[in-house]
Amino acid sequence: MDNRYFGTPTAELVEQKERERSAFNPVDYVAETIAALKAGLGDDKVVLGLSGGVDSSVSAVLLHRAIGSNLHCIFVDTGLMRKGEHAEVLSSYRGMGLNVIGISAGEKFLGDLRGVDDPEQKRKIIGRDFIEVFDAEAQKLQGIKWLAQGTIYPDIAESFAPDRPGVAVKSHHNVGGLPEKMNLSIVEPLRMLFKDEVRRVGKELGMSPEMLGRHPFPGPGLGIRCLGEVTAERIAILQEADKIFIDALRAEGLYDKVWQAGVMLLPVRSVGVDNGARTYENAVALRVVNSVDAMTATPVQLPWEFLARVSTEIITRVKGVNRVTYDISAKPPATIEWE
Ligand code: XMP
Repeated sequence: MDNRYFGTPTAELVEQKERERSAFNPVDYVAETIAALKAGLGDDKVVLGLSGGVDSSVSAVLLHRAIGSNLHCIFVDTGLMRKGEHAEVLSSYRGMGLNVIGISAGEKFLGDLRGVDDPEQKRKIIGRDFIEVFDAEAQKLQGIKWLAQGTIYPDIAESFAPDRPGVAVKSHHNVGGLPEKMNLSIVEPLRMLFKDEVRRVGKELGMSPEMLGRHPFPGPGLGIRCLGEVTAERIAILQEADKIFIDALRAEGLYDKVWQAGVMLLPVRSVGVDNGARTYENAVALRVVNSVDAMTATPVQLPWEFLARVSTEIITRVKGVNRVTYDISAKPPATIEWE
């Protein structure tokens, strides 16, 4: 089996990638990878969890080219995604011909998160729920042999870093626990690629610039951007504010110029005034950063007039928010996400 794609990654892959970096050519990569996937998978069935992000989407399209309807994709709506995102992305996946099952599991996630405000606890609950939902759905598919993952090269390289020998691939980059539980073998079509190479492969596969240009979005979603307790009401407030901000970035031509943007709903209320009456409502923070690999990040200096317009729009249109702040912290010491 070609260990560039199948089974447990090894240190030789890292050496190989260092040698091949400059020679990368998306046309050859697509042809070679599809041939290797066809040869390695034969008539086997594969399951893959789609997240809406670039890596899982490009992985799915490559596998679909290689094995067609033997690829079964599962796309879980955690209820913690951006406003309208699950339905939109699901329909674009279907438009791309992928064999995809959409699962609405928002109630489960929100139910299990009730009363929890500790960030690590939230992450654990969301991760565990995701595995449960994914596993239950995958069990319904008969005869699956492989679990496909959108792991990319930096995840692998990190595992073989000289100062961190043998550490596991970052748990948030795969559905940890599933392979052992389901007795599946692993296939990772992108594990020899950097992010920019993944985008070039996606382009070569004919995927849309909208899909390929999507900002990174954390697995636990708005659950870790809704500081304090996560409730349906608070997620709805956050989704509204986030949509206004992201739409404004797109309209202004700024979305594609930054690495990542989003809104955090803060666990504080502050006093305001609306039509002469006192209000006591939520505050949000806008976060926009530039980065190369998310290990470090710098806050983006957006035009003041633009920020002022977005602030007014959020305060006037989103019920329950009366204050907008802008996060100017660099990573380190701050992280990109607040939780
Ligand atoms: P931080 O907050 O650590 O984030 O500076 C670095 C990058 O990783 C994303 N992120 C995640 N991605 N699952 C993911 O798939 C996660 O649990 C997770 N946490 C953070 C974050 O959005 C940023 O791009």
